[in-house]
Amino acid sequence: MIQSQAYQQIRVDGHILEARTLFENMRIGLAASAALLLTSHATAQTGNGLNLMPMPTSVRSGAGRLSVDPSFSIAVTGFKDAALERAIGRFVAELSRETGMSLKQKTAGSESPTLLIHAAHGRESVQRLGEDESYELVITESGAKLTAPSPLGVLYGLQTFLLLVETTADGFSVPAATIDDKPRFAWRGLLIDVGRHFIPLDILKRNVDGMAAVKMNVLHLHLYDNEGFRIESKRFPKLQEAGSDGLYYTQNEIREFVAYAHDRGIRVVPEFEMPGHNRSLFAGYPELASGPGPYRVDPGGVDAVMDPTRAETYKFIDEFIGEMAELFPDEYFHIGGDEVSGSQWNANPKIQAFMRSHGMKTNADLQAYFNQRLQKILSKHHKIMMGWDEVLHPDLPKTVVVQSWRGQQSLATAAQQGYRGLLSFGYYLDLMWPASQHYAVDPMSGAAASLNPEEKSRILGGEACMWSEWVTPENIDSRIWPRNAAIAERLWSSPDMQDTSSMYRRLDKISQRLEWLGLTHRSSLVLALHRMAGANDVSALRTLAEVVEPVKDYARWSSLKGVWDFRAPLNRLVDIAHPESEQARDFRDALETYTGSGYKDEAAEGKIRARLILWRDNDAKLHPVLEQSFLLKELGSLSEDLSTLASAGLLALDYLDKSMPSPNSWRAQQLALVESAKTPKANLLLMVADPVQLLIEASEGRKQEP
Ligand code: ACM
Repeated sequence: MIQSQAYQQIRVDGHILEARTLFENMRIGLAASAALLLTSHATAQTGNGLNLMPMPTSVRSGAGRLSVDPSFSIAVTGFKDAALERAIGRFVAELSRETGMSLKQKTAGSESPTLLIHAAHGRESVQRLGEDESYELVITESGAKLTAPSPLGVLYGLQTFLLLVETTADGFSVPAATIDDKPRFAWRGLLIDVGRHFIPLDILKRNVDGMAAVKMNVLHLHLYDNEGFRIESKRFPKLQEAGSDGLYYTQNEIREFVAYAHDRGIRVVPEFEMPGHNRSLFAGYPELASGPGPYRVDPGGVDAVMDPTRAETYKFIDEFIGEMAELFPDEYFHIGGDEVSGSQWNANPKIQAFMRSHGMKTNADLQAYFNQRLQKILSKHHKIMMGWDEVLHPDLPKTVVVQSWRGQQSLATAAQQGYRGLLSFGYYLDLMWPASQHYAVDPMSGAAASLNPEEKSRILGGEACMWSEWVTPENIDSRIWPRNAAIAERLWSSPDMQDTSSMYRRLDKISQRLEWLGLTHRSSLVLALHRMAGANDVSALRTLAEVVEPVKDYARWSSLKGVWDFRAPLNRLVDIAHPESEQARDFRDALETYTGSGYKDEAAEGKIRARLILWRDNDAKLHPVLEQSFLLKELGSLSEDLSTLASAGLLALDYLDKSMPSPNSWRAQQLALVESAKTPKANLLLMVADPVQLLIEASEGRKQEP
């Protein structure tokens, strides 16, 4: 997460540059492709019409369908163990839930099973980066066969099977197909920041279930930050006692959680952020800091940093990492390293003297010195060090993994210098981008596109990031899902997958399935609306809530009056409105169809008109509701804007319908209203402003007759 305004600009600009480069690369790439390649791209893109996400490497359709009915049976040959049994048990339970049939885990005897599972050998006891994740799923009318080198591939194949189950006129069934599948990248992660706001384990678990459904394989836990320390240390108990509000994971809970994730093919990589973002550590152990303190986990506290010049600092790190190494078996440990403020180092004469005596000129030199010592400690505890892109420094051994967040350039630079890396720039879920914007970001694009094959092989994949400044247990699922599924596809599937409408069609489908897994990204909105309204009938409020989105990028930070208070309630519409409005997207799609048909498509016009009428009439219904709740009063002008926009849209539609050009003065007046409706209100954007603007502009005349 950023702390300075300067970064915001770099990152926003950086994104625009990266997006443009990607587009150019795509164009050049496409122009160079042979017709044959284009044909196979098309097949990869559509997956023969199957609703799969992420799209498998290869899908070949077969003839007919395999029925899924109460006689469903499973047989396992080859490798077997208790973990595989549990995976099959979960599969049967999910299939039962989604079909409403109480299926039993019937193992087939001599008769042929509905699904035969075969793994050649077992998994590693600690999941390893790059472990074979491939599988093959062959489905015919008479049965399905899932084969994989190890149960890891079986896990993925079972997920694919679940996604294929469809409700048809004749019952539940899966289409016949042959699917060969393996991931493009070995590292497909999601970071969850549990420091700023604590996220209970049951919520983490259902997100792990969601990750497994979209074939992600790393959960990166940002375990503490200035606002809270979330992991029990028995060696240094004041870490959680003074550094949290009592909300942290006990060691037993973490052990159980890591095993839960392992069962689902997900590595848990912990982040122990150092030397910055450490105020919660200093609450209990102020002697670790570079300034005198005192330190509390209060909002707006000082930007404190560890003292890298004292032997005691490294003694603490050694013991703390040693304790944590027992708890988190993964080979990779993240040490943060981002946004280290030099102010405490500059103000401390002892630190300044240390730098002079060691010939260090800048704070970056001091951080590199710290990182080198840190890396040796990690290595002693058999861990490989990862850090945010600020850690990139030639003095560090090439084993260090660099996570790019300030732009794609650092990923390419790291790869050129011999470091392995991950991309997170472009995958920040907290920025409230639409799925399509994340989908357009590729770890191999931008500066990475011109790397040689060896350098490219150092790019391990990417991680979506869920920073939690504005995240709570109530809204976290809706901030992660379904958009994270689009990132998961980018990291698993062929880079040729670029068709946004196909992505959205399949995203809608998987979004539904994710709710079956217990995620609440859709249902949480309605529950929150009931609380906000203090009323039973929230239909008009829902109509408004479904066409707004929270402001993008770091705009919410600019709206703060005073410091950001992590203890402030997050119970306004901006906190629960979906990052991407499905209603607005649907409306834009209908408008595109209508425009594309030269304003002739009656079904599209009917849909547009019905929606505009609903929105036009909504304010009259909603106003009394808004008046009744202090949480809703701020939405008054947003609701009026929606009605105004819809009325203008309806008139524009009438002009188009009658083939009458709208008067210039009318259009100018309406476009001014649209502009004012585009201004964020209550940190929300009205997502129908742009499409209504298109409608008004189109009403100037029928310029697009086919
Ligand atoms: C970061 O967002 N500061 C890694």
